[in-house]
Amino acid sequence: VTEAIAIAHPNIALVKYWGKRDTALNLPAVPSLSMTLARWHTRTRVLWGVEVDRCTFNGAPADAETAAKVFKLLSILDADRPPVEVETANTFPSGAGLASSSSGFAALALAATAAAGRPLTPAALSVLARRGSGSACRSLYGGFVAWRMGERADGLDSHAEPIAPADHWDVRMVVATVSAARKPTGSTVGMERTRATSPYWDAWVSGSPALVTQAEAAIRDRDLPTLGAIVEASSFRMHATMHTTEPPILYWLPGSVAALQVVRELRAAGVGAWATMDAGPNVKVLCAAADAERVAAALRPVVAEVTILEPGPAASLASPVAR
Ligand code: DP6
Repeated sequence: VTEAIAIAHPNIALVKYWGKRDTALNLPAVPSLSMTLARWHTRTRVLWGVEVDRCTFNGAPADAETAAKVFKLLSILDADRPPVEVETANTFPSGAGLASSSSGFAALALAATAAAGRPLTPAALSVLARRGSGSACRSLYGGFVAWRMGERADGLDSHAEPIAPADHWDVRMVVATVSAARKPTGSTVGMERTRATSPYWDAWVSGSPALVTQAEAAIRDRDLPTLGAIVEASSFRMHATMHTTEPPILYWLPGSVAALQVVRELRAAGVGAWATMDAGPNVKVLCAAADAERVAAALRPVVAEVTILEPGPAASLASPVAR
């Protein structure tokens, strides 16, 4: 039995990935760009070559769907693999649009390749993580990260690449947790319904590459108002495609709208704050480090919990604890 432990941090998309051009390979219809978060993480331990496949999540047996995805990824890594034990735990709420699949599959890809004695190049590791969950390809890197769509049918050129390290820019993501309950429509299903039924699909796809290009320049120049406007545009455009599927997908709750209004009021009062939402009701607010406490204080009365997170590091291997 060989063992490895990996830690990976979730990322929040500043320019969103929503929609696939190939569902089997998780190839995106749009490029995307993200910020990896500090502090919050997934820790995954892989034991390669045990008696029988086993997967636990936060100390309890994983649900069948999660376990199937985990073992599928391991079989992509090695079609003749032995039975494997996977123990994974998150330090933050799972499945509520708080980006748990991003850190989860990044940690799994890194731990599994190490335990199997099959280290990969950074690009190949990002490709493997992508097969588990698209957004996971970005969590292998720290700081600001772009996911290039690629052109190949086999997807080997569709992986993330680092844009700027975590210490490039002292910004914060203020996470306003409206509800930590599991989302009613998962990303994979939601994306497919959007592609198949939203009349706004073509506009979403054709408009996204320019947002990534502009966001990269704004990050390079540390231009927060420009990046903030792009962040809100990408999020609202994505949610507009969700709202116009058949049947419509609405991740927003009353608390989400309340938080969005707070962000507008902050901006009207001269505070640089911009909101983004994913496949869930929670609102994440991008701002300068110096404004984070003020932003958090304004959000606290309208949501359940507020957490200030800074740009975080790349995924890494930890040494197994001797037993
Ligand atoms: C709204 O990466 O969870 O968070 O590839 O189907 O596993 P799958 O989807 P996933 O989708 C993330 C969607 C998003 C936007 C983003 O992170 O870019």
